Amino acid sequence: MASSAKQIILLVAMAASLFAVTQADTVVVGGSENWRYGYNYTEWAADNAPIYFQDTLVFKYKKSPAHSVYLLPNLYSYLTCDFSKAKLLANSSQGHGDGYAFVINQWRVFYFASAEGNDCEDGLMKLIVVPWPRY
Ligand SMILES: *[C@@H]1O[C@H](CO)[C@@H](O)[C@H](O)[C@H]1NC(C)=O
Ligand SMILES: *[C@@H]1O[C@H](CO)[C@@H](O)[C@H](O)[C@H]1NC(C)=O
Repeated sequence: MASSAKQIILLVAMAASLFAVTQADTVVVGGSENWRYGYNYTEWAADNAPIYFQDTLVFKYKKSPAHSVYLLPNLYSYLTCDFSKAKLLANSSQGHGDGYAFVINQWRVFYFASAEGNDCEDGLMKLIVVPWPRY
């Protein structure tokens, strides 16, 4: 192969990898409201859809009052705020500073919620994320 052709292939490959890197977004959940009691994350998720596969969600919250981030197993546990089979992602001390970062790296529906106090039941601190493919 001519060396100029190799160079072109290399350039295309570099451009493609650069493109792939810049494609993934980092999204702060709740925007400037962060992760707090009383903010409507269902509405926020609708306004900020879609979240793409490989995007990073960042949950930022103060140490007090305490919040957390759990991954719930299904829609029913999400609707009823049942954390018995939930997976702890970030506890009450892991949301300050840069926050807790979670990469949307699976093709599944993600049910997130805070389990502290009445955060999930009354505080609206829950959201559903369905990853979208990038083209
Ligand atoms: C939160 O927002 C959703 C979507 O707009 C809406 O259906 C729901 O009633 C809101 N919840 C409250 C408590 O305002
Ligand atoms: C939260 O998790 C971190 C890291 O696993 C741990 O060091 C810390 O003690 C935990 N804090 C609470 C309040 O459970």
